[in-house]
This record gives sequence, structure tokens and C-alpha cells, in this order.
Amino acid sequence: MKGVVVDNRLLNDKYGLMCIESPEFVKNANPGQFLMIKTQLHNYLYDPLLRRPLGICDVNLKRGTFSLLYMIVGKGTKLLSNIAKEAVISFSEPLGTPFNLTADKKIAVIGGGVGIAPMLFLTKTLYENNSVDVYYGGAEEKDILLTHVFEKYSNNMKISTNDGSVGKKGFVTDLVENIDSYDKVYACGPKPMLKAAFELVKDIDEIDFEVSLEERMACGVGACLGCIIYIIDEKTEKIKQVRCCAEGPVFDGKQIVW
Ligand code: FES
Repeated sequence: MKGVVVDNRLLNDKYGLMCIESPEFVKNANPGQFLMIKTQLHNYLYDPLLRRPLGICDVNLKRGTFSLLYMIVGKGTKLLSNIAKEAVISFSEPLGTPFNLTADKKIAVIGGGVGIAPMLFLTKTLYENNSVDVYYGGAEEKDILLTHVFEKYSNNMKISTNDGSVGKKGFVTDLVENIDSYDKVYACGPKPMLKAAFELVKDIDEIDFEVSLEERMACGVGACLGCIIYIIDEKTEKIKQVRCCAEGPVFDGKQIVW
């Protein structure tokens, strides 16, 4: 697929936000899905060779646009940050299994670092029919982004940073009080954060727990087997391998072998 970059700006020296116009993509995008994006604008340029996986951060159905929040960590994302407005960029269709949405529930959304990216689209969608509390954590102030949008689309929002530069000092999962009051917890972020979220809910059968995993991906479509994770098979109760990109990236967090 191709789309036109309508905006691309640095939020700070660590993160960028790109907005792309593609009504066809937007029509088919669901919270939790991702895309593989080509960071070079020309087909004859192959370095870096692989497309980058990025979670869909937000969509605007009326305008036919979607946005991507990216952390500048290497050559690909650096190139992405240099792409100017009106450039035509190439990317896949929406990929992967989306989050299961609910209605009339009390929800906790827990996100850490760039793992907050798919949680914005999710939070906005859930907020239409649920009560939603957002717990947002980062290592430092630079990791805390788009808070005005999260505030608008949630009943409560709490922030933490490891160094205490914004919000409460500590881990995001430490912010969650009364975990039993929630019907469902959604989480995305670094593995230790997801594991800590799992510890909060693992013994409470009434709470559903869905996570989006941020594995390294090469192909994004289930072909290379480069993104294997382990889950417990519901029927056989044995451990089995699944591909994060094809069977995920959203999984029942209580089935994952942490
Ligand atoms: Fe290739 Fe998942 S990234 S199988």
C-alpha cells in the first residue's frame, strides 16, 4: 500500500510522530494491529533491507489518516524521522490479531515506553463504551507523550517514571490500586512491565488480561519464524510455539509463558 505523509515531527530527540493519509488502510485498521513500513522512499534503495514493524497509534476515519509513534533507535527509524511532508511512503496492510474489544466494563490500560503507541487507538475505541483508566509509565520525562489525548479519552490517567521526572517515581504497575475493581486489563510495553502486570492479575480469574507483545520482526507475515514466543495451549495445557506477528501480537496474557 502507499500513502501520503501529511505530517512528521519529532516530539523530542527520542520519538517522532508520523501521520499518513490512506483511507483504504484506515478502513481496515483495528486497535492492536501493526504495519510493516518501508523507511526508504525509493524502491531502488535497499538499506535497511527490512521494513520496520510499528503499532497503529491512532486513526481518523473522517480524514482517512492514521498515525505512527516511533522511537528513534537505529538507521530505519532515523530515516523515518527525516521523511518530509507530502512524501509518498510504502507500507503493508494492517497486520496481526487485534485486541478484543468490550462494552460496559471497567478497564485498565497499562502502557510503557513506546508500548503506549497501540494503546492510544485502543483507549479511544474502548472509551466509547467503557470506563477506562490509563496507567502510563516511562523511564524518564521524554517517554511520556501525547498525555493530553490520553486524558481526553480516559476517566483517569496516572503517570510514573523510573527517575521521578514526571508523575510518581517507580514502575507503572505500582500505580494500580484496587486491581480487583477491573473487569479487564490491557497492556503493552517492555517484557518486565508486562510480567509485572501479569503478576497483578494472575490469581484473579474474573479479570481478563490481554497483552500486545513487542517482538523483533523481520517479515511480519508469519513466514520467517523470527518472532517465536511460547504460550500454554488452552486445550492440551502444553507449551507451544506461536508466531508473534501472525498469531499475535495480541495474546491472552494469562496463556503466555513469562
Ligand atoms: Fe517473520 Fe513473524 S516476523 S514470522
